[in-house]
Amino acid sequence: MDKSRVYVFDTTLRDGEQVPGCQLSTVEKIEIAKELEALGVDVIEAGFPISSPGDFKSVVEISKAVSEPVICALTRANHKDIDAAAEALQYAKHKRIHTGIGSSDIHIKNKFNSTREEVLARAVDAVKYAKRFVEDIEFYAEDAGRADNVYLAQMIEGVIAAGATVVNIPDTNGYCLPEEYADKISYLVSHVSNIDKAIISVHCHNDLGLATANSIAGLRAGARQIEGTINGIGERAGNTSIEEAVMIMKVHAQTIGLNTNIDARRFYNLSSLVAQRMRMPVQANKAIVGRNAFAHSSGIHQDGVLKNKENYQIMNPEDIGIPSHSIILTARSGRHALSYRLERLGYQLDKLNLDKVYTKFLEMADRIKEVNDHDLEMLMGSDKGSKNVSDKGIKVELLQVVCGDPLRPMATVRLKVNGEQKEASASGNGPVNAAIEAIHKIVGNSIRLEEFNIQAMHGGSDDVSKVNMRVVHDGKSCYGFGYSTDIVNASINAYIDALNKIL
Ligand code: KIV
Ligand code: ZN
Repeated sequence: MDKSRVYVFDTTLRDGEQVPGCQLSTVEKIEIAKELEALGVDVIEAGFPISSPGDFKSVVEISKAVSEPVICALTRANHKDIDAAAEALQYAKHKRIHTGIGSSDIHIKNKFNSTREEVLARAVDAVKYAKRFVEDIEFYAEDAGRADNVYLAQMIEGVIAAGATVVNIPDTNGYCLPEEYADKISYLVSHVSNIDKAIISVHCHNDLGLATANSIAGLRAGARQIEGTINGIGERAGNTSIEEAVMIMKVHAQTIGLNTNIDARRFYNLSSLVAQRMRMPVQANKAIVGRNAFAHSSGIHQDGVLKNKENYQIMNPEDIGIPSHSIILTARSGRHALSYRLERLGYQLDKLNLDKVYTKFLEMADRIKEVNDHDLEMLMGSDKGSKNVSDKGIKVELLQVVCGDPLRPMATVRLKVNGEQKEASASGNGPVNAAIEAIHKIVGNSIRLEEFNIQAMHGGSDDVSKVNMRVVHDGKSCYGFGYSTDIVNASINAYIDALNKIL
C-alpha cells in the first residue's frame, strides 16, 4: 500500500447539503456527483437515506449514475437506518455504509442519556449489523474532537474488531486546535492495537476557521482519508474545503509528502457549479476558488507579478482550472472575441446562431461589467431551449403585466406555438402567477410547477436575475432556465424553456 496516498471523501451532497436553503433536487445531485467522479474523489457520500424519501432516492440514483468512486450512505447506529442505507445502495458498484454514534461525554449524557459502556455496545452492534450487508464499513465517532482520548481509543478498537474498515474521527463542532487534533490522531495510532486494520479519516468543521488546518494536521499525524466539501459548504461555518486541503498537499508536497488522486484543474468549474446549484455564492476572498484569489489589484503587486509571477503567486490559476484570458468580454467585445471564448468552453456556433447569441450577450454585457465563463454558460444554457433561437415549439412574443398595491396582478401573454400566434390574459396572486395562468389558457393546465428558484447574478438593484424551475407534466419532470433584468420575464423564460423540453 502506498503510504503517501490520501483518500478523498466528498460529503458535499450530505453534510454540505444540510445547509438551510441549499437543498438540491436529485437531478442536480447527479450532475454534481458526475463532476465529483471526474474530479477523482475516492468516495461520494450521497445522502442519509432514512432521513427522507428524497435522500433515499438520491442515493439510489447516484448509485446508478456514477461507477468509479465508492458510494456511501449515512446512518445512525440503529438497524432501521442501516436497512434503509443497504437498500438505497443496492445499485452501487462500490458501496459503503457510514454508521456511528456520539463519543464525547457531552453527547453520551445529553443526547443519549446513556453511559459510555452502553454507547460502545451500540457502536459495535451497528458495525456488526451493517457488515451483514456491505464489506466496506466506515464508523464515525461523533464529537470525537471533545471526546476523552482513552474512551475514544476503546471505542475505535471495538468497532474495528467488529469489522469497520474506516474510522472517522469528526471534530463535529469545530472545537479543536490543530496540535490537539493531531495529538488525538497520534494517540489513536499508538494506542489502538488493531489500528492497522482500518484507515483513519479526518472530518473537521470550521466553527473557528480551523477545519482545513486541523484536517492537514490529522493527515500528518497518520490519518489517510480526508472528508470535506466543495467550497467548504456545510452547516454553520461549514466543513473542510476539499480544494484547500488538496492544494495544500500539492503546494507543500515536499514538506508534507502526501498525495491524492484529484485532478485539481477541475476545481474552478466544479466550485462554480456547486455555488450555482446550491444558490450559495463563493465569497470573493475564499482561498483557491474565490473571485479575488488570484486577482492582483494594487499597483505594487501588479508590477511585481508582471516582472515575475512567483513574486506574488504560490500557485498558478491554471492549476485549479481558472482560465487565463487575454480576451476579456465586455459590451465592447465583438463576435470574434465571443466565439473564441465560447469555443474554449466547448461551444461551436455557426454564423446564424452566433448572431443570435451575440445579441443576447450584448444585453447581458450592458448590465454587468465583465462577462465571465459562468455567465457564458448561463447564456448558452438559456439559449438551448428558450424563446429566441428555435422556430419550433413555444416562443414568447409579448409579455405584459400590470401589478401594484392594491391592484390585482394581471398578465397578457402572446405566444407563438409551432408557428401559430395565440394570446391570453389572466389574473393571479402575483405577476408571475398571472403570467403562468395566461400561458395555461393557451397550452392547457396539465402542467404543474414544482420548484421555482430565483437568484441574483451579481448583486445590485439593476441586476440580472436567473430563474430555475422544475415543471411536471404527465409524470415527467423537466428543468427550465431563464434570465433577465426583469424577474417576471426571467421566470416566464424559464417556464417556457421547461415547456419546450417537456411538451
Ligand atoms: O460532523 C459530524 O460528526 C458528521 C458525522 C455524521 C460524520 O457529519
Ligand atoms: Zn460533519
